Amino acid sequence: MGRDELMTVEAVLRLRPGESFKGVYAVRDLQANRDRGGGTYWSVTVMDPTGAMEGKAWSSARWLDRREGEPLSEDQIQSLKGMSVGVVGQVKDYRGSLQVDFRELYRLDQDKYPPLDLVPRSPFPQEELEERFWRIVGSCGEELRGFLEGIFVGDLRDRFFSYPAAVSNHHAYRAGLLEHTVHVAEAALGMCGPYRDVSLEVVAAGALLHDLGKVRAYRMSPLPEVTVEGSVLDHVAMGYALFEELVRDRGLRGELAVHLGHIILSHHGQKEYGSPVVPQTLEALIVSAADELDFHLFCCREGLRWLRDGQAVSDFNRSTQRRFWTGELPQRP
Ligand SMILES: [Fe+2]
Ligand SMILES: [Fe+2]
Repeated sequence: MGRDELMTVEAVLRLRPGESFKGVYAVRDLQANRDRGGGTYWSVTVMDPTGAMEGKAWSSARWLDRREGEPLSEDQIQSLKGMSVGVVGQVKDYRGSLQVDFRELYRLDQDKYPPLDLVPRSPFPQEELEERFWRIVGSCGEELRGFLEGIFVGDLRDRFFSYPAAVSNHHAYRAGLLEHTVHVAEAALGMCGPYRDVSLEVVAAGALLHDLGKVRAYRMSPLPEVTVEGSVLDHVAMGYALFEELVRDRGLRGELAVHLGHIILSHHGQKEYGSPVVPQTLEALIVSAADELDFHLFCCREGLRWLRDGQAVSDFNRSTQRRFWTGELPQRP
């Protein structure tokens, strides 16, 4: 690779300590901190279609309005959130983990480098995910199928099919919500096998709806962001509120609405994880278990994806409080 070649986030995270890079990324987040000498340094997270990386721009870093341009003020640096930037940096070893230093950052022509083009997206083709989603809808009985077909239309469907499932931690990319939802629903249905008394269609519909609130808790502007409501009400409560609105509009017979509402409210499994009630039905227990499983599998796969040469065990994953390992495995037939 030539020294002048632009590197993706994935390529940078595979560099060895001491190696330098240049690249074009969108700024997902940046935060000012003070160093011991009173200078300002920044914690910066950037992304491109291959992933996201967090790094530091120490007080000696240069922030410019364009390549070879004027220096940026602190306010101007702050306003770079959501914009595309050119970056020159280096990776270092910090206590056994890779640390990324951003040495020079410059604002790019936003028309030439639209930030939306730099947002990562689900590795699964959109049509495939949509097809799997509608297949699960189609597996439900007449009433639930009609309800789901009636609500996943227009703006709600567009958001649900394009939004991330989170802004960091898991499925934080375009169509991440759809990918996560389809996986949770398929995993949940897979778990039902031995349990003949479980309602498959309540599991299917509940899994499809469990993170419904995320269409209001997040927005793309153009990078994934938490809305004000998302941060003070959270997607669990927002999902239930939206579900109630939809039930009022379209109607749902008997206790079906209570079953599905219970799955939405209990899907985080425990009160300390943000659910006001714990799962109290067979179907809610299964959806909640599948949701947690999909989250853990995602973190595991991500941890292993970023293994560097000679590294057997992943870096420590804060949200799951563990490192991951794969070792050698027999081929899956
Ligand atoms: Fe959730
Ligand atoms: Fe979820």
